[in-house]
Amino acid sequence: MSEVGRLLEKSGYSRKAIEYYLKKVNVGRIENPNVSSVYTGSCGDTMKIYLKIEFNVIKDAKFQAIGCAGAYSSGSALIEMVKGKTLKEAEKITEKEIINFLGGIPKQKIHCACLSRRTLQKAIKKYRNSKTGTNT
Ligand code: FES
Repeated sequence: MSEVGRLLEKSGYSRKAIEYYLKKVNVGRIENPNVSSVYTGSCGDTMKIYLKIEFNVIKDAKFQAIGCAGAYSSGSALIEMVKGKTLKEAEKITEKEIINFLGGIPKQKIHCACLSRRTLQKAIKKYRNSKTGTNT
C-alpha cells in the first residue's frame, strides 16, 4: 500500500474506501446527462453529480468533487450503489448505508457521506421538477 493509503488506513478508512479514493472510482462527467446538480456542504466542500436516467432508473452516474478523502470515497460508493436503482430507491439511501457499503470511514468524516447523499437528492429533485415544469 502507498504512503497515502497507510495514512488513510491509520485514520480509520477501510481498505475499500482507500481504494475508491485512490482509484477515483466513478469520478468524471457524463456527456448529455438527464440531470446534473451541484451541492456545497457546510464544510465548504462541493460535489457535482451527473445522472443518466431511463424510465426512472439510473442507468449511469458520475461525480466530481472539490473535497476530502471522505467526500471522494463516499461519492464513489454512492454512485456505485445507485446504478440500476429507481429514483425512489436511490433517494432513500442513507449515510449509514454508504458507510456500511464502504466498510468504514473515520467518525469525524460521517458528514462527508452526507454531502454525497444531499447532492444526489438535489439532482433527483431537479430532474423531477424538470419533468413537471417546476422551478427550484
Ligand atoms: Fe467536507 Fe469531507 S470535510 S466533505
